[in-house]
Amino acid sequence: IPIHVLHGPNLNLLGRREPGIYGTATLDDIERDLRARADTLGVALTVRQTNHEGELVGFVQDAGLAGAGVLINAAAYTHTSVALRDAIAGSGAIAVEVHLSNVHAREAFRHVSLIAPVCAGVICGFGPHSYGLGLEALVRLLQSRLP
Ligand code: DQA
Repeated sequence: IPIHVLHGPNLNLLGRREPGIYGTATLDDIERDLRARADTLGVALTVRQTNHEGELVGFVQDAGLAGAGVLINAAAYTHTSVALRDAIAGSGAIAVEVHLSNVHAREAFRHVSLIAPVCAGVICGFGPHSYGLGLEALVRLLQSRLP
């Protein structure tokens, strides 16, 4: 099963960026853990990060064309991007939304996700573990849909 892990804006700064909120793990640390878990689960990961909304839309389209599941932390675009929501809906890809922080415990503008309605589910608030939990949930869902 192919899985595309997509990271949105400012997540390249993880480890240095507001460590009180996002912790000290870097994106490379998260990728290492996720690849180990993917090996255990027997799935193949493609990992991509961008700070650009249109590029993130392109990544989602690529995942759809590849027939891949999508594990996405859209970061700030979660709360703003109709284009991203439409890309997920239109791609046909099954997507799981993840966040490091508990967005519901933060500013009101983070309580709304424009992409959640077109994702299978959302995991937030567990720091870097949100990704591993999201991957497991996504793989289970994809496996349950295999012929
Ligand atoms: C985030 C939460 C978003 O509100 C924020 O804009 C981010 C990171 C998270 O993983 O907690 O950049 O997606």
